[in-house]
Amino acid sequence: MAVVQAPGVIKLFGEHAVVYGRLSAAIAVSLYSSVSVDANDNEGKVHISLPDFSLETVFSDAELLDIASEYSARDSINAYVDNFKRRVDSRLLPYATIIGRYCADGGSIGPKRFEIRSMIPVQKGLASSAACSVALSVAAANLYEGSYTEGEVIERALDGDRIIHRNENAGRIDVPTSFYGGCISYSKGSGVRREELGAGMDIAIVDTGPKKSTAETVGIVSRLHENDTPYAERLFDSIDSCARRGIEAIRVGDFDAVGKEMYANHDALVRLGVSSDGLDRLVSCAKACGAYGAKLSGGGGGGMAIILCNEETCRCIRKEGFECTPVSVSLRGGAAFLKGRV
Ligand code: MEV
Repeated sequence: MAVVQAPGVIKLFGEHAVVYGRLSAAIAVSLYSSVSVDANDNEGKVHISLPDFSLETVFSDAELLDIASEYSARDSINAYVDNFKRRVDSRLLPYATIIGRYCADGGSIGPKRFEIRSMIPVQKGLASSAACSVALSVAAANLYEGSYTEGEVIERALDGDRIIHRNENAGRIDVPTSFYGGCISYSKGSGVRREELGAGMDIAIVDTGPKKSTAETVGIVSRLHENDTPYAERLFDSIDSCARRGIEAIRVGDFDAVGKEMYANHDALVRLGVSSDGLDRLVSCAKACGAYGAKLSGGGGGGMAIILCNEETCRCIRKEGFECTPVSVSLRGGAAFLKGRV
């Protein structure tokens, strides 16, 4: 049995502003999704199993090719998912599409059973879906008879995330970060860049409770931008500066400076209207406990916060009633499991 793992991702800087072209940065963390692959002699078909949802379906090569061809010809991602509603469970469709796309490119991957699991909490802004798509794309690439580039393996994983989120722009930061591990920056203008980590970073995550959907908080920012464009643009610029200075501070291992930019980035997100009472209470508590920095991470409106702090600070935050979970940076991404590269 072959196993591929890919890490979850937290947003260190730049969420929301990245939608308006500004710089963002993300870090891979030591929580993993995994795909195991077994030989399967069941009539030469491909099994895809999601034990977390008690789901398993068998696909013939012809079905996978049909899925891939409809995906390539899609008018919109929503129409594509809706079209398959009665034929394929929508939780399996992203993964059938990834495998189908490899088959459609001319390389058979043979009769196999893919089991996809995640230890990353779902819908918490930790990119569990991106990590599953990356692990599966790498696992399928390892079986694929043709040649491929890292860019193509990432592109197939992006297909999975696009379908999961029903959004053509989904996964632009999460997928490359889960693929490469470490720290990744992204903006529309500069694309994906692998950033240097000058020293090991102690990060903790806190789930501050129920969150608004990312679509909802993206809508809040979009309305603010429509109603007061200069104000919103100034906030995006200040977030962009936080990301630039923060990435440079990460490169030299200056945690005081990284943390200062995290607090400043959080303040700008508060002004954008995407924080919550729980997130603000946590950030104040982290500051009072002496954390280098803290901020919401991802879409906001509740949900996950990240803190740059050591174990002692984490204990102090726990005493204030927050479940503070240390995670380490995962320098190993899904790419570490890729066998041959072209
Ligand atoms: C959500 O994790 C990140 C956002 O910036 C949305 C996006 O980049 O598409 C809020």
